[in-house]
Amino acid sequence: MSHREEKLRKVIELGLIVSQIKDIDLLLEKVLREARSFTNADAGSIYIRENGQLRFRYAQNDTMVQQLPPGKKLPYTTFTVPIDSSSISGYVATHGTILNIADVYDLDEQYPFSFNRSYDDITGYRTRSMLTIPLQNFRGEVIGVLQLINAKDETDGTTIPFAAQDEEIIVYYAGNATAAIERAKMTREIILRMNKMAELRDPKETGPHVNRVAAYSVALYEAWAFKKGICQEEIDRTRDTLRMSAMLHDVGKVAISDAILKKPGKFTPDEYLIMKLHTLYGANLFSEMYSDFDESAAIVAINHHERWDGNGYPGYIDPHTQQPLPDHANEDGTPRGKRGEEIPFFGRIVALADVYDALSCRRCYKEAWSESDVLDNIRSEAGKQFDPELVEIFIESIDTFRQIEKLYPDHSEES
Ligand code: C2E
Ligand code: SIN
Ligand code: SIN
Ligand code: FE
Ligand code: FE
Repeated sequence: MSHREEKLRKVIELGLIVSQIKDIDLLLEKVLREARSFTNADAGSIYIRENGQLRFRYAQNDTMVQQLPPGKKLPYTTFTVPIDSSSISGYVATHGTILNIADVYDLDEQYPFSFNRSYDDITGYRTRSMLTIPLQNFRGEVIGVLQLINAKDETDGTTIPFAAQDEEIIVYYAGNATAAIERAKMTREIILRMNKMAELRDPKETGPHVNRVAAYSVALYEAWAFKKGICQEEIDRTRDTLRMSAMLHDVGKVAISDAILKKPGKFTPDEYLIMKLHTLYGANLFSEMYSDFDESAAIVAINHHERWDGNGYPGYIDPHTQQPLPDHANEDGTPRGKRGEEIPFFGRIVALADVYDALSCRRCYKEAWSESDVLDNIRSEAGKQFDPELVEIFIESIDTFRQIEKLYPDHSEES
């Protein structure tokens, strides 16, 4: 089989894998990684069209990552570029054409754009060759831009221009990736809409809150998986399901009345009892268990308020009958709380992510806490409210949590 056929076959296989990924962030990561692997690119980024602009959504850079401690990731950054001819990505999005540049510091005079060196100036990285591909759907609409940076010579690793004969394959690949990205965006839209229907608190709080809790959960899981040496394939699979389940952790609040849900002050004990039912309502929404995803969404919904010390809720209970499970009742007939590793792992992860977010932000019933108060609280709850191992991982990952907080601020326009 020729090199070219081999590449083509790989592209087709990848189309299949990519079409199974439902979560947009994971998908962007996969798309970029694979596109880089068959063009042998050192770095790359993906821009997604959003409100008439290109938003820089995701980047990889092998050279920069090698300078970080093992297991650490590049910081999340985000900015927007106008869709016009003033930048490379803007130009490609405007014209819907691929652009293959040998050296962005030495641009052909015919081009209307200039290369923005600010990233290179900050990092010391030298961007040279660049292959920029429009992500175009079958209707011809550009939904984003894929940018591959610094092709590496396969033998000596020096930076070379991108091969002209790779352009056709990468355009084909970009078409498949675009279809998958549109599907994943729709999945996320549907999830956000389900949460909106639940009208959790102020609807402006809902989108950012669920996005943050999902991102924190994934960050905790990834740091844990890295420590345990879990293989990448399993990490990818788990992350996809975890993120979507975490986004839906509170969707059972749809069944709680606004009077309770949006009460501007402290609950009475009776109101709190009703609110606690959101775990069971959430589990019931996914009880048909059509897929792994439904199953894990049910697990997260019912377990995210259990506590490591066994004093959480709802405990061992049948979500339909609301009766304790056989042999799991306390003496007073209430269900026994799950404790320690009896609580499913996803439940323990989302519990920590959810409380971190609840404490860090303002809610209709409380003010935001300072970061040091939040950290003191979480540290002191290790082994009580939270899985102590996860608390340790959380403390080590606090930088990532801070970045996620900036990525999804409250009271901003929702994406
Ligand atoms: P939430 O706002 O997403 O909070 C999630 C969890 O974060 C809470 O679960 C609790 O474990 C923790 N948390 C939030 N605020 C505080 C705090 O000020 N101190 C401490 N120590 N922990 C805090 P919890 O208590 O089971 O509450 C579940 C949900 O019930 C909350 O979700 C919120 O929507 C609602 N809620 C709880 N208490 C009140 C209240 O007094 N008034 C109102 N209006 N809603 C409440
Ligand atoms: C881009 O393609 O827009 C990034 C480089 C630049 O700003 O020109
Ligand atoms: C609790 O943590 O027990 C209730 C939540 C709150 O007081 O805000
Ligand atoms: Fe909850
Ligand atoms: Fe929550």
